[in-house]
Amino acid sequence: MTSSTTIPHELIQVLRTAQAVTVLTGAGVSAESGLPTFRDAMTGLWSAYRPEDLATPAAFQRQPRLVWEWYAWRRSLAAQSHPNPAHHALVAMEQHVPAFMLVTQNVDNLHQRAGSRNVIELHGNLERVTCSVEHVVIEQWDAQTGVPPACPRCGSFLRPDVVWFGETLPALAFEQAIAATTHCDLFFSIGTSGVVEPAASLPRLAAQAGAAVVILNLDVTPYQRDGIFHLHGPAGTLLPDLVRRTWPDV
Ligand code: OAD
Repeated sequence: MTSSTTIPHELIQVLRTAQAVTVLTGAGVSAESGLPTFRDAMTGLWSAYRPEDLATPAAFQRQPRLVWEWYAWRRSLAAQSHPNPAHHALVAMEQHVPAFMLVTQNVDNLHQRAGSRNVIELHGNLERVTCSVEHVVIEQWDAQTGVPPACPRCGSFLRPDVVWFGETLPALAFEQAIAATTHCDLFFSIGTSGVVEPAASLPRLAAQAGAAVVILNLDVTPYQRDGIFHLHGPAGTLLPDLVRRTWPDV
């Protein structure tokens, strides 16, 4: 196991020659854009709530207004923030690698705004809204119909198009994520605590399929084993450094 706060030379060689790279990202990648990670204590108005208590179908049934407003707050935070150097470094990586796939648990749309093209959204996207009953994406609705607003098709509550605790992941997105994980020669897990399944098992799957694996996090994460590069530090510093040293033209 390599554990380091700087980029190992061996990793630069592996990345430079990789034909297929898959990257899994979590809330840590957006931390330097000013968005609180999922397990950070919420501040201000929302400090009395744990995300785990608000991001469930049961919470939405019990208190639909509260859940809708919490997501409206998160949506406005995301809209006011900007992609950071970690997001931009992943765009540059995509441009240099023949086959690149970004699998994200983030719902803030910052990878897409930075310019990443091949993005699999495992947990949905805050910017989309669906009908809570028919699950179709709704583009336009009348905000005057209430909080949450009513679906213009059937009158049910609208909800954010994100995956809540206890819900299954979008099947196609998950299948694509597994395929990209088991068909890459280099796999990165970046800024994710690695505690939420099934995304947490992707690094192990990648290693079993023969890929080199990099875990990049501020903290030590649960997935520690031989043959893994562990990089400790902020993604917004380490990723641009890695990209610059791998492809000095960037
Ligand atoms: P977490 O909040 O669980 O973990 C964020 C991770 O990022 C932590 O391990 C931090 O140490 C690390 N981190 C923080 N700042 C960082 C930085 N600047 N650079 C690198 N790492 C940093 O968020 P996720 O792992 O994304 O699911 O959580 C996964 C899922 O659990 C979320 O999508 C959400 C949540 O429950 C659902 O809503 C279904």
